[in-house]
This record gives sequence, structure tokens and C-alpha cells, in this order.
Amino acid sequence: MSGRIPQAFIDEVVARSDIVDVVGSRVQLKKAGREYKACCPFHSEKTPSFWVSPDKQFYHCFGCGAHGTAIGFLMQFEKLEFPDAVAMLAERVGLEVPREAGTGAGSGDLYEWLSRAALFYQQCLRDDARARAYLAGRGITDATVADFALGYAPDSWNALLGRFGTGPEERRRLQQAGLIIERDTRGGERAAGFYDRFRDRVMFPIRDSRGRVIAFGGRIVDQGEPKYLNSPETPLFHKGRELYGLYEARRAQTEFRRLVVVEGYMDAVRLHQAGIRYAVATLGTATTQEHLHKIFRLTSEVVFSFDGDRAGRAAAWRALDTALPLAADGREIKFLFLPEGHDPDTLVAAEGAAGFEQRVQEALPLSEYLLRELRTAIDLEHIDGRAKLAARVRPLFQRMPEGVYRELLTDRLASEIHLPAEKLRSLLAAPAEPGRRGTAAPAPDRPVRPRTGLSAGRGPLLRQAITLVLHHPAAVQRLSAVDQLEQIDQPGIAVLRELIAQARALAAPTTAALLERWRDRPEHARLAELAARMPLVAGAEAAASELGQAIQKLAVTQGAGRRVDELLEKARESGLNSEEKTELNALLRAKGRAGGEGPAPGDR
Ligand code: UTP
Ligand code: MN
Repeated sequence: MSGRIPQAFIDEVVARSDIVDVVGSRVQLKKAGREYKACCPFHSEKTPSFWVSPDKQFYHCFGCGAHGTAIGFLMQFEKLEFPDAVAMLAERVGLEVPREAGTGAGSGDLYEWLSRAALFYQQCLRDDARARAYLAGRGITDATVADFALGYAPDSWNALLGRFGTGPEERRRLQQAGLIIERDTRGGERAAGFYDRFRDRVMFPIRDSRGRVIAFGGRIVDQGEPKYLNSPETPLFHKGRELYGLYEARRAQTEFRRLVVVEGYMDAVRLHQAGIRYAVATLGTATTQEHLHKIFRLTSEVVFSFDGDRAGRAAAWRALDTALPLAADGREIKFLFLPEGHDPDTLVAAEGAAGFEQRVQEALPLSEYLLRELRTAIDLEHIDGRAKLAARVRPLFQRMPEGVYRELLTDRLASEIHLPAEKLRSLLAAPAEPGRRGTAAPAPDRPVRPRTGLSAGRGPLLRQAITLVLHHPAAVQRLSAVDQLEQIDQPGIAVLRELIAQARALAAPTTAALLERWRDRPEHARLAELAARMPLVAGAEAAASELGQAIQKLAVTQGAGRRVDELLEKARESGLNSEEKTELNALLRAKGRAGGEGPAPGDR
């Protein structure tokens, strides 16, 4: 592949395809009302809980939580990367994938430049005794150097530049590839120009699934700052998407029992060398959902390995948070904490591959890790410990797909805190207390206040509005309250605005068409989750009216909020008269009733 696939083309492919055909040619579908059902192809089951909706152009398994569009289905079922899934779908409907030129000549030849750079760095490593000694000193063998195509960037400002940056066009391409940097000329320097990004570093080429170099990581030889340097984001390289070592792992084997995610380049390399060829590393970022999607396309078990220090524990909690929405039945997500002072590299040196693998075997399942963290975080002896626990757990559980896994975890937790499971379930289902964003819970024995109106039991208004648009994008075309959207200002509102604009612009607005426009964005997973939920209303007519009401309510709440601010300000400055006091009290009470707007997609 070269270049991005234009969005308009993706819209076109999605509009022309029918998910019922796509799924139906791979899975035996049975018509059930307006939808189709089947035994889920992604987990084993005897009674069908896998549904395909022709209206939404979306599939959803109530058993394992798998969900997505036709493109998503192909990715998951055929284990394809996104562009390949688009190409396959395009072929079905007789379209040929055009490519957007990156900039100028297209990004196709960026691969060329990166490949040349990799070869150059490899040659420099052969030529540099000090760099070779450094790697040898770290226990890296020549075979591993070759396996990972490790190299060395010389200690010079223009080693690469001098070799390849022969003309302005060449320098521009090297810059786009992230290999050289333009000098800052604001200081009045006369000789504007470029310099090498990587200097005096061991070079780790980062390769895509086809083995093409798309970026580099570089470790300083011996001492220096920063210790590691990565390529910047380029048309070919998106940090949050790549896993270092995955190409090498797939080259060594095609079926994985599991993948282990480690924190460092060196860790991945060292584990491979020790024969643990299922280790991959994130690139100095936290694990993303894209990483996890990639992993779960290849295996159903992932083990996150963390160094046994504080940073490692914090990173583990973040990974848990990211992984929760993907904790579906049939998947295993585990956590491995290394002893204090160790990373996988040093652990393999100390205990050998067998030692490390032993620890992998004994890694904590997500449920155990979650319970352990909750146990330490909350003093269960304390009188309202259970309520606190439920409050901590609720936002976490609500992000997990419904299914056996979540149910089992609920049971475990219930027995842990000596509460009947049903009681805990109702605690966990309770809406957040007004205005406090799910940080507090109702005391366990107090009945949950019944609520009426639009927001009854369906989560925050903004989330409802977003869900309505996702489920009934065609309804948006009959929406009259669009102007009021402009008055609203709260986290996540931009997502709603953009979805509405997209739904209006699409010729054939479906759930799938909307979701495909968010695929590369952090909100995507959350939006797909909302798309997979049960519909709030039936029919576009009802959806349009509910959506209009939701927007109106949001705007009114917003207006009330502004008035409250005004009154509070006046109270501070000159005091309020009794009328104003009454108004403020009424507004604050109303706010309490309407409140509890929970986090919207992307607002975590
Ligand atoms: P660590 O600091 O744990 O280093 O960084 P390490 O992998 O054990 O390195 P060695 O063993 O000293 O060579 C873990 C990862 O965090 C990113 C890199 O991806 C690194 O592999 N990192 C670290 C950076 O991006 N920049 C830095 O300055 C440091
Ligand atoms: Mn290390």
C-alpha cells in the first residue's frame, strides 16, 4: 500500500456493500425479524447470540461483545489490516482502491528512503567497533542483530544527510521520512539547512506487517539524553498503532498461543533472542486500543509485562483501563509484574527464558488484578467500604462488554465483599449521583431514586444523544434543534456536533458509515460500543424527536448553568436579594436533578 485511502472512497465502499452479504458468505445467517442471527464466529456457542443489522450495517455479539462494520468484520474474521479489508470489500463491489498522494510524490517512495537508511545504519554498525562492543556488552548476538536488522547512526550531524541528501528534493523526502531535521533559522543563522535526527545511537528499525521499515527507534550508545529517540509521526508511522517486534514474531510463527507486551525495545529483542518469540513492545507510549485490536486479531491471550516499580504499576492501571472495553468472553488479558528493579531484559539475563516463561504462566488475570487493586484502594473494614467499592467499580464495569466475563467478575467481587451477587448487580447498575460523575455511589441500602423523563436509566443525556445519532443517522436529517447545539459547551459536545454534521453530509447515512469516519480517532472504540447497544427507541421518527429533546435539554441545562454562575458571582460581589436567592436555590436543585452528565466518548 502507499498513501492513505481517501475518505470519500471508504464512504462509497461502505455505502455500496451490504454487511449481510459480507457476513453471510462466511457465516450461516438466519433471518430473525428485521435482523439476522447466527452462532458467533468469534467465540464458541451453541445458541446464537450474534446479530447482524442491515439497517445499521453493523454486527454485534451479545455473548462475546464483538461488534463492528463490514470492514471491521473482515478485519476480525480474515485477520486483515484496515487497508486490506477495504481492498477486499472494494473488490466485492467492483471498485478499485485509489490512493491519496501523501505530499508531492506520494508516500510510496518514503518506504524506499527508509529502507536505504536502514541499510546504511546496518553498514555503519559493521564499521563501528564501539557500537558493536556496546551491543555485545548487552548480550546481543550477531544473529539477533541480523534478525532485527539493528544498525548504528554515527556520532555526526550529517552522516545520513551527506550520504543521501544530495539535492533539495532528496532532503525534502528524508525530512518527510523523519530522518533529518530542518535547522531553526530564527536565530539569524545564515546557513539554513538540515541535520541528522539520529546520532550516536543503536538503531532499531520498526517494520510493518509486511516487513517494510516505517520508522526507527534509536538508543544512545552508553549514556546520554534522551536515552531513546523515536521517529516522529510521518505518513507511514503512527506510534499508537505499531508494536515493535510484531513483524519478527509473525515471521517466526503464524499461530500464537499468546502475545506478551513489554515496555522496551531492548526487552522485545532480548526476549526474542532467548526464544520467546511472542514478545512485542509499545513504542514509548501507553498501550492503545488499536494495539489491542491488532493483538486480538492474532491471538486471544495478551500478557502485559510491567517493571516492578511505581511507573510500572501506574502503566498497568492505564493498560487495564484501555483493555476493559475489549475484555470479551474468550479473551484473556493478563498482567505480569516483574520483581523490583527488573525489566524483561535483565530478568532473562538473571533467570533465563524458562524463568520468564514461568512468570508469564503465572501472570495475574485481569479480574484478579482488578480485585487486588480495588482491595488495596479501599478499606473494606470501613463502614461504607462496600458502597465505595461499588462506586469505584461501576465506571469500570460499565465499560466492559456485557457477557459471561463481566458476570463472573461481578460474582467474584460479590463474594469478595460478602454481598449477594444480585445486590451488587443492582448497585453497579445504579446511575451516578448527580453532579459527581460516578465517583460516589448511593449507600448500599438506600433505594435508587426513580427518575423520569428522557434520561431515565439510559445514562447521561449527551451519551443518549450520541447513541441516537449513531443508531438513527437518517433521523438527523429531520432534526430542527441543530442551532441549539451551538450554545452547548461541555466535554464531548464536539463529538455530537461532528457526528450530526457527518450524518447530514453522507448520501447514505448508516451506523457503519458514521463509524468508519472515526476509525482512526481515539473516540472510535467508545462510539462503536455505543453503536452496539440496544436501541433507545424504535424508528427514525421517534429518534428524531428524542434527539431534538435531548439537545434542547442540554441547551437549557447550559443556560441554567450560566445563570447560576452569574448569581454566584453577584452573591460574592454585592450579595443577593431574597428573590435571587430563591432563584439560585431552585436552579441548584434543578441542576442536581438533571445532573450527572457522565463522560462522553473520548472524555475519559
Ligand atoms: P526504559 O527506560 O525502561 O528503557 O524505557 P529500557 O528499554 O530498559 O532501556 P535500556 O535497557 O536501558 O536500553 C522503556 C521504553 O520507553 C521508551 C522507549 O520505547 C523504551 O524502549 N523511552 C524510554 C523513550 O521513548 N524515551 C526515553 O528517553 C526513554
Ligand atoms: Mn532495560
